[in-house]
Amino acid sequence: MIMKQQTDETSSVPTHPETISPCDLTMSFVYAFLTRGRPVPLTTIVYAAIFCSLNGFLQGHHLLHCARFQDTWLTSARLAAGFSLFVVGLSINIHSDHILRSLRRPGEVVYRIPHGGMFEFVSGANFFGEIVEWCGYAVAGWSLPTFAFAFFTLCSIGPRAYHHHRDYQQRFEDYPRCRKALIPFLL
Ligand SMILES: NC(=O)c1ccc[n+]([C@@H]2O[C@H](COP(=O)([O-])OP(=O)(O)OC[C@H]3O[C@@H](n4cnc5c(N)ncnc54)[C@H](OP(=O)(O)O)[C@@H]3O)[C@@H](O)[C@H]2O)c1
Repeated sequence: MIMKQQTDETSSVPTHPETISPCDLTMSFVYAFLTRGRPVPLTTIVYAAIFCSLNGFLQGHHLLHCARFQDTWLTSARLAAGFSLFVVGLSINIHSDHILRSLRRPGEVVYRIPHGGMFEFVSGANFFGEIVEWCGYAVAGWSLPTFAFAFFTLCSIGPRAYHHHRDYQQRFEDYPRCRKALIPFLL
C-alpha cells in the first residue's frame, strides 16, 4: 500500500491522507483477466471478497484515522526498508504469477514444473513474493494492524505453498530436490 500523509508543522496528526493499493488493483483488474486457471468456486470468491473488504476497511481506517506519523517518518530508514521490501515482494509476486501463466497454452489445463525467478528456490514463489510484500508493508507502517495483516497472510497462503510443494514432489519424478516449499534454503 502506498500512503501519502500530510502533516501540519506543529502536529503529527494527518490532515489530508490518501491511500491506494497497487496490489489490489493488479489482482482485481490485471490478474483476473490474464489467468489461465480452472474456474474458481463461487464460495472462494465470496470468502475472498469478504476478507478483502473487511481487511481493506480495517487497514484503511487504522492508517487514515488512528495511526500517527511524525514528520520524520517520511525520511525514516524504516519506511525506506519497508517500502523497498514491498516493491521487491510485489515484483516477485507478479513475475512468479507470469511464469505460472506461461506454463499453459490457452485452453490447456495441465501442470508443469515452473522454472526461473524465485521458482529456482521455492515451489510457492508467488506466495513467497506476496508474504515479503506484506512484511514490507508491516515494517513501513510499524503497527499491530499492519503486522497482523502480514501474519495472517503468512497463515493463509503459507500452507498453500507447502501443499503445492508436496503435490509437485508426488507428481514429477524429476522435481528439483534442492527446491524448498516457501522460504529459500530453509523451509
Ligand atoms: N493476499 C492473500 O491473502 C492472497 C490469498 C490468495 C492468493 N493470493 C495471490 O493470488 C495469486 C493466485 O493465488 P492462487 O492461490 O490461485 O495461486 P496458485 O495456486 O499458484 O495458482 C496460480 C495460477 O497458476 C496456475 N498454476 C499453478 N501451478 C501451476 C503449474 N504447475 N502448471 C500450470 N499452471 C499452474 C493455477 O491454475 P489452476 O487454478 O488450474 O490450479 C492458477 O491459474 C497469487 O499471486 C497469490 O499470492 C493472495
